Amino acid sequence: MISRLSLRTICSPPSRGPAFRRSSLLTRVARSALLLCIAMPVGVAHAANAPVQVTLDASKPGAVIDRNIFGQFAEHLGSGIYGGIWVGKDSAIPNTRGIRKDVVAALKALKVPNVRWPGGCFADQYDWRRGVGPERKPAVGEPNSFGTDEFMDFAQQIGTEAYISVNLGSGTAQEAAEWLEYMTAPIDDALGAERAKNGHPAPYKVAILGLGNESWGCGGSMSPDFYVNEMRRFSQFVRNYNAVQPMKRVAVGEGGGEGSYNDAIMKAWKGRSGGWDIEGLSLHFYATGGWPPHLPSAGFDEKDYAALVKDPIAMDDAIKTYSAIMDKYDPEKKVALAVDEWGAWLAPTPGSNPAGLVQQNSQRDAVLAALSINVFARHADRVRMANIAQMINVLQAMILTDKDKMVLTPTYHVFHMYVPFQDATFVPLTFDSGTYATNGITLPRVDAIAARDKAGKLWIAVTNIDPKSPATFIISLAGVKAIKAAGQTLAAPKVDSVNSFDAPNIVAPKPLSARVAGGKLTVTVAPASVTMLGLE
Ligand code: AHR
Repeated sequence: MISRLSLRTICSPPSRGPAFRRSSLLTRVARSALLLCIAMPVGVAHAANAPVQVTLDASKPGAVIDRNIFGQFAEHLGSGIYGGIWVGKDSAIPNTRGIRKDVVAALKALKVPNVRWPGGCFADQYDWRRGVGPERKPAVGEPNSFGTDEFMDFAQQIGTEAYISVNLGSGTAQEAAEWLEYMTAPIDDALGAERAKNGHPAPYKVAILGLGNESWGCGGSMSPDFYVNEMRRFSQFVRNYNAVQPMKRVAVGEGGGEGSYNDAIMKAWKGRSGGWDIEGLSLHFYATGGWPPHLPSAGFDEKDYAALVKDPIAMDDAIKTYSAIMDKYDPEKKVALAVDEWGAWLAPTPGSNPAGLVQQNSQRDAVLAALSINVFARHADRVRMANIAQMINVLQAMILTDKDKMVLTPTYHVFHMYVPFQDATFVPLTFDSGTYATNGITLPRVDAIAARDKAGKLWIAVTNIDPKSPATFIISLAGVKAIKAAGQTLAAPKVDSVNSFDAPNIVAPKPLSARVAGGKLTVTVAPASVTMLGLE
């Protein structure tokens, strides 16, 4: 991926998410060394602003970047669903059958491949029966007016696939099986008939099934062996009766643990017999700059910028660690690593209810999103699913709403710019990333990835991590016929610039084109920016 590198050691405080509550390998290393030192390739020393020489090798394509790494996560938490998606049919806010029209239009443009729902921790306490039919049965803090049929309507409106996370924590395999029966069975089945009576005769499609959530923590505090037994039963009995494409089943994997969950699951998978199987194993990894979440989401300085954007390095490390465990049992990489919760988890917006996990979204989030997607793309052979947490109003959101107002975040724009990478084939780049150092944190100065889309067009994404200096890329395109590159760049006045309801376009992509001369593409990009260029 990167050549001519010196291997340096980057020392910075360990990253921990909610998923890191258990004593983790990373945490234990950090405790003993006081610092977490991650060996990663960074550039050899050279002039800070020297052009970055990149070589693209189109003759050695890599794996297909599964579109499902651009998945989203929508949990019944704060105003992620109520207010963010669902306003109800009688609302003055323009809606289609209770679902916000403005949000649907914005999400359609992202070509969201799948949405994970209803949680998160919420999923392991969810009683689907309370959320169907004319008489909804509220739970404490949950009206259940947005239930299965409303979620499927939302999925259909934005053109995405359903990733349903079943309740393996407090629920039974029978309840989960009946939920799938309700969603997918034909109408001559009693539950299929109930769905039809509720207005939906055609069976729904369920593309992905989550077998619990963080079962080592909020999903039931299960030991690896206990979880494996539960997961096998659920995998076997929770059937999809509308298998227009085979449903992928995702087991609960690590969230920063030392690997015993992944090891137990993959070992069982290798020796599997009977009717159970899995197609994915989850990893939850949040960028926090140190647990508990404390970095402000707006009004922060360069130190806090670097403290957060270093976390994709730790995520890359975690993916390597957990992939190695999977490789032991599955060298053919049949089971995908599904990073089905990732993103920035920051201090709650002052004045908001901390339980709602409301945070602003800045140019720092845009850089973080691009670096994280680049990590997934580099591991495209194993990482074939990922879901950013979360879609609307919660954590690193695409969209923020307040009553009838809506604003697109910098993260939204990154997801939009990366649409050409969906199902594109990874094309290797080699470059010396250089270094950017501040406040005792050393990071690569730049990052870049490339891919060829299904129509044959080459795309290059470059990120300038350095918030103080522009970066010039000189990209050698040996064997590629192109006369120019055109696309968009996302920069901002400051790293903590945000879009607000009153000023929604402070951080917005702008068109950018660059010349190709003598087989080289030269482009200069702004500090702390994300750029996507297609070769023409
Ligand atoms: O995304 C917020 C929460 O983080 C999810 O409910 C849980 O799975 C994780 O701990």
